Amino acid sequence: MKTEVFQPSLLYDFHSFPKTRYQGSKLKLLQWISENLKSLNFDSVIDLFGGTGAVSYLFKTQGKIVVYNDNLKFNSIIGKALIENSSTRLTYKDVTKMLTQSSRKKYKTIIQDNFHDIYYTDEENKWLDVVTQNIHSISDPYKKAIAFFALFQACIIKRPYNLFHRKNLYMRTQNVSRSFGNKTTWDKSFEEHFKKFIMEANEAIFDNNMSNTALNMDAMDVPGNYDLVYIDPPYINSSGTGVHYAEFYHFLEGLVEYNNWIGQIDYKIKHRPIKTNKSEWCKADEILFAFNDVFKKFRKSIIVVSYRNDGTPSLSELKELLLKYKKTVEISTSGKYKYALSRNSNTKEILLIGT
Ligand SMILES: C[S@@+](CC[C@H](N)C(=O)[O-])C[C@H]1O[C@@H](n2cnc3c(N)ncnc32)[C@H](O)[C@@H]1O
Repeated sequence: MKTEVFQPSLLYDFHSFPKTRYQGSKLKLLQWISENLKSLNFDSVIDLFGGTGAVSYLFKTQGKIVVYNDNLKFNSIIGKALIENSSTRLTYKDVTKMLTQSSRKKYKTIIQDNFHDIYYTDEENKWLDVVTQNIHSISDPYKKAIAFFALFQACIIKRPYNLFHRKNLYMRTQNVSRSFGNKTTWDKSFEEHFKKFIMEANEAIFDNNMSNTALNMDAMDVPGNYDLVYIDPPYINSSGTGVHYAEFYHFLEGLVEYNNWIGQIDYKIKHRPIKTNKSEWCKADEILFAFNDVFKKFRKSIIVVSYRNDGTPSLSELKELLLKYKKTVEISTSGKYKYALSRNSNTKEILLIGT
């Protein structure tokens, strides 16, 4: 059993990408995205707002030279594990080691001390403190990235709403009847989830014979020229409320920044997020300028934007803006698509393709 657990499969397509729960993930739309882009001629691509890496992975399976980017560190580690990494996998021995508390090491207790009763139980916080520090001491960058990937996914799947936006451990622990969520998943041990996600990552890793990279930059600072730029920024709804990813996933950034975490925590807020500023991509009155800057910067590339019919700016405003830089803009609609975590069933997923 031990060896077969970590055997990779032989064939890769986007279905090999691990199932994750992340706001705005395009995993369920990969087939549709692939069909809409198949007539375009390109070899190199940048996924400027990479998130889970699902779309980068689609491009990787198509044999493109892929650059993944996201301004959150934890996300770029996922890009390193699944996109940049072509062959490194974790062995059973690696996993056993990172799950074992070493008697020779003095462990810090940052999560136990700062997040009691907020996201996880005391016992789970202790597990997180130990395993996070064990992962930090792995020297191979790809092994480390795969381990972090599995840790992030385990953290997300054990959270009500799959987010870190509230102090709501009580939703898991209170003995009440629930109309939402999955208590069995929340209560399954970290170790069990962690091992399962490692297996999934191990099976997803492959070499497309290209040199692919993962970056951790602001979209506007990314260097280089690419045949195609894929843009899937944070979504702002029609009433102007945007998704601030750093606020939703600060706990995962904290795991990556473990030794510097305490200095960054905002103790004035009950759920103890990391102090951050909202970027222009989350502000209704600034996002059009942000789109303009990115379109201008990448005007020589094919520009593909993932969008929604009910966002800010409106679809027609965005099309008009893209036409400033590209000769033609085609719009494709996916039909009815309901996002994970979204209550709005009328949302339609859109692709704008500027050539
Ligand atoms: C809609 S999600 C992308 C989802 C992704 N396509 C997927 O399938 O998982 C938007 C992403 O943009 C990232 N982001 C937000 N502001 C950014 C910025 N200024 N530069 C780069 N990435 C940014 C967020 O961290 C988030 O992961």
